[in-house]
Amino acid sequence: MRERILNLLYQRKKEYVSGEELSQKLGISRTAIWKHIQALKGEGYKINSQKRSGYSLISVPDLLLPYEIKRDLKTKILGKKIYHFKEIGSTNDFAIKLARKGIGEGAIVVAETQAKGKGRLGREWSSPFGGLWISIILRPEILPTQAPRMTIIAALGVAKTIRKLYPLDAFIKWPNDVLIRSKVGTIRANGRMRKKRSRVFKKVCGILTEMGAEQDTVNYVVIGIGVNLNIDIKKFPMEFRKNTTSIEKELGRKIDSVEFTKRMLEEIENFYLLLKKRGFAPILKEWKKISATLGKRIKAVSGNRIIEGKAIDIDSHGALIIKTKEGKKEKILAGDVTLMRN
Ligand code: BTN
Repeated sequence: MRERILNLLYQRKKEYVSGEELSQKLGISRTAIWKHIQALKGEGYKINSQKRSGYSLISVPDLLLPYEIKRDLKTKILGKKIYHFKEIGSTNDFAIKLARKGIGEGAIVVAETQAKGKGRLGREWSSPFGGLWISIILRPEILPTQAPRMTIIAALGVAKTIRKLYPLDAFIKWPNDVLIRSKVGTIRANGRMRKKRSRVFKKVCGILTEMGAEQDTVNYVVIGIGVNLNIDIKKFPMEFRKNTTSIEKELGRKIDSVEFTKRMLEEIENFYLLLKKRGFAPILKEWKKISATLGKRIKAVSGNRIIEGKAIDIDSHGALIIKTKEGKKEKILAGDVTLMRN
């Protein structure tokens, strides 16, 4: 009901809509309308109330609220159900609980901040206010070994959103970090840090996919996506600052987080539908086009293997092919990659 009240007020933003009109259109009493309006105000909506004229929506809170994400969202699957938290331990943990209880595909969990954000390989993920910390629940008909494909479609969705909405060069570092190629970097010269026009890749988004599977069946996949949107890099722990960036930092202005979230869900859904319809080949093609890894000298750590060489290809399973100095071709399916200066 609150969503419907908001939509009516939204259509005539800053004008007054009478309690009578709302009550007639929605089929509930004026007292019930008043109660919902109070609740919306409690959530941070600025709504003016005037006895004679009714209610007028002045501003919406700068939060990733479900009503805001759902408004004009052009998806069929993603965002059907949205759980929002001002603070949570980890959106992935909550989404896993929902998935185990049988929630339908497309549900999402979003939080303004996470106290225990999880990164890949058991690392912590710093999640201050201003970022997008979101988990998407899907139930794809794939083999458990194909789950990395879900991470790749998410990375593609994030990178495409950044490219479409802003004049920024977003790339994917194998397997699924989204990086922005900044035009200005800092270099050490004569013992001092100086600003220099160089091209450096910095991480703007990380993805952690977790799944529930039995033998050959995937029950659910939770794709956890963390994007640094409106974040001052100084909020991150010192050790990450050099290689991390945010959209705000790159653009020099704050962005509309709700708009970003909607567009990102739409992009990811498009890639998900493409994967269902045409398989992995077209996804792989798109991925290769914006790879920050291919053609670069890299150092890869995969389990206890450390491989240095040139990243030359990504095969049909998503594995990275590296050509070592000795001319040997090595293949890794999972791991961490560092881009070296070419
Ligand atoms: C990485 O290490 O690069 C992956 C980071 C994934 C972070 C996101 S934020 C939303 C979701 N919830 C979590 O606890 N982690 C993921």
